[in-house]
Amino acid sequence: MSEKKADHQKIAVITGANSGIGKVTARELAKKGYRIIMICRNQEKAERAKQEIIFASENRDVDYLLCNLDRMDEIRETAGKISEMLPTLDLLVNNAGIVADSKRETTEDGFEVTFAVNHLAYFLLTKELLPLLHKAESVRVVNVASEAHRAGKFDPDNLQLSKGYGTVKAYGNSKLFNIMFTRELAKRLEGSGVTTYSLHPGAVSTNLASDSSSLFGWLFNMGKMFMLSPDKGAKTTIWLSVAEGIEGKSGGYFKNSKEVKPSRIAQDDQACRQLWTMTEELLGEFVEVKSSPFVGDK
Ligand SMILES: NC(=O)c1ccc[n+]([C@@H]2O[C@H](COP(=O)([O-])OP(=O)(O)OC[C@H]3O[C@@H](n4cnc5c(N)ncnc54)[C@H](OP(=O)(O)O)[C@@H]3O)[C@@H](O)[C@H]2O)c1
Repeated sequence: MSEKKADHQKIAVITGANSGIGKVTARELAKKGYRIIMICRNQEKAERAKQEIIFASENRDVDYLLCNLDRMDEIRETAGKISEMLPTLDLLVNNAGIVADSKRETTEDGFEVTFAVNHLAYFLLTKELLPLLHKAESVRVVNVASEAHRAGKFDPDNLQLSKGYGTVKAYGNSKLFNIMFTRELAKRLEGSGVTTYSLHPGAVSTNLASDSSSLFGWLFNMGKMFMLSPDKGAKTTIWLSVAEGIEGKSGGYFKNSKEVKPSRIAQDDQACRQLWTMTEELLGEFVEVKSSPFVGDK
């Protein structure tokens, strides 16, 4: 078995890999010999990042697929393409995220945009790629969350902030949902060989808030000079992607490459299960719940 493992080139899918934390993660994993599939929404940015990563890593196995992660049909289509082109998948890094505007906006599918990109996309892409992930021997799903989750609330009657929307609330909620999703995913995948982790990368100088006209966005951009570089900010993501012997911590939340306790609601198993069910219901049109590989995997 170990001989087979040594021959196998590990494959990673990384969302939002053209910028910030995702780009450094892709570059460093490419240096470690991974085949990289970047998921990006802008061809020009994706091509530029791909060339940079190839140049820095001397690894030519770097490709991208274009996908707007606020479109659930595009996520399914992209997952379909990945499943056709790859024999297996060793690592999925759900990293792409946004800080939205001060005015509530919805996607073409009708979801609040932060909720769609930062939560639904993590859920749906993972769900769609699980059959492929199950084919590899030791597999990880790493979800980039944030300490901002501590300001988040799980209100089942107002998941998408149709009442009382605010940029910080939407972002905090979405990052809380990343941690709750990870905890419930770990339970559903127990014993399957697939493990999952969420993390806070630190306050990192990236383009995260460059499209946001909100006060939060303005403060973020003003504070950039005091923040970590993307190289430092990607360390915990990379560590969770490759560290040995952490499988027993599946479902955990990490900061500075150490497990830490998230907020109380993020440790509430019933709430995590409820968020899961509500997410599946919301994605009803896109997710065939009955045939979901999540169900009965235990
Ligand atoms: N920076 C921080 O201080 C910090 C702190 C805590 C957590 N985080 C988390 O870290 C993750 C990475 O963010 P970052 O700080 O590295 O910011 P970033 O440099 O802006 O990277 C975000 C990536 O997500 C992509 N993206 C956004 N919306 C998308 C969509 N609809 N479809 C496809 N791709 C989309 C962006 O693509 P474009 O380049 O095309 O926009 C970009 O590649 C996020 O989940 C964020 O919540 C960041």
